[in-house]
Amino acid sequence: MIELHHVSKSYNKGKVKAVDELTLTVKPGEIFGFLGPNGAGKTTTIKMIVGLLKPDSGTIAVNGLDTQQNSLKCKSITTYVPDYPAVYERLTGLEYLNFIGDVYGVPKTERLSRIEKWLEVFELSQAVANPIQSYSHGMKQKIVLTAALLPAPRVMVLDEPMVGLDPRAAHHMKELMREHCDQGKTLFFSTHIMEVAEKLCDRIGIINKGKLIACGTMDELKKTDKSEQSLEHIFLELTEK
Ligand SMILES: Nc1ncnc2c1ncn2[C@@H]1O[C@H](COP(=O)(O)OP(=O)(O)OP(=O)(O)O)[C@@H](O)[C@H]1O
Ligand SMILES: [Mg+2]
Repeated sequence: MIELHHVSKSYNKGKVKAVDELTLTVKPGEIFGFLGPNGAGKTTTIKMIVGLLKPDSGTIAVNGLDTQQNSLKCKSITTYVPDYPAVYERLTGLEYLNFIGDVYGVPKTERLSRIEKWLEVFELSQAVANPIQSYSHGMKQKIVLTAALLPAPRVMVLDEPMVGLDPRAAHHMKELMREHCDQGKTLFFSTHIMEVAEKLCDRIGIINKGKLIACGTMDELKKTDKSEQSLEHIFLELTEK
């Protein structure tokens, strides 16, 4: 569960208001898609949820724990994938996954069976023995996503996870995200791909200029649109205003 309560964040001493009084809740078992134009405040929101940025005001709780007051506990139950594949390039894929497994305390036996399954799904079984610096962008993204799944975290926060994935890998990733949430876990992700949001998310939030301008299930969002059109149409209508 993720709860944001009147969260605001500015950059440059208040000159740029990136997130403005944002309030929303993502329930356990839910996939929440966070949409918005470039510069709307998605990454800033995500960085505050995972504890990389401190809100100027408002509160954020992960599974009922305040992220400011219980920062380590919150981090131990959350995994995060940033909007670029941030990895230790000199480690091999397997060394990196084991490092993440150690950080999150994933038992060795569970670790191996999980890693093997996902490496096969992402067609990385051969490459995993090589240093990450030799990987393509898509391969790095797949390793980072595998690492985020590895601890079976209560909460996963992903910033544009589908970027760089080929259609097959994106398809598998969507299945893994659904599987994860079917176990009662919470998943929050940003995307620019309307089709992914429409098909995968239980609920969708649209942010524009730091403010949440729409939030609900696809059916609820459609009801706000006179012609009940696609998510793309709703997005374009709402963000134009
Ligand atoms: N480090 C920074 N310093 C100053 N301003 C910033 C910084 N990071 C973001 N901003 C500003 O904050 C606002 C929100 O940016 P943010 O990166 O959160 O948007 P976003 O929705 O993730 O966009 P994108 O779709 O391009 O990833 C923008 O106006 C941006 O220019
Ligand atoms: Mg961003």
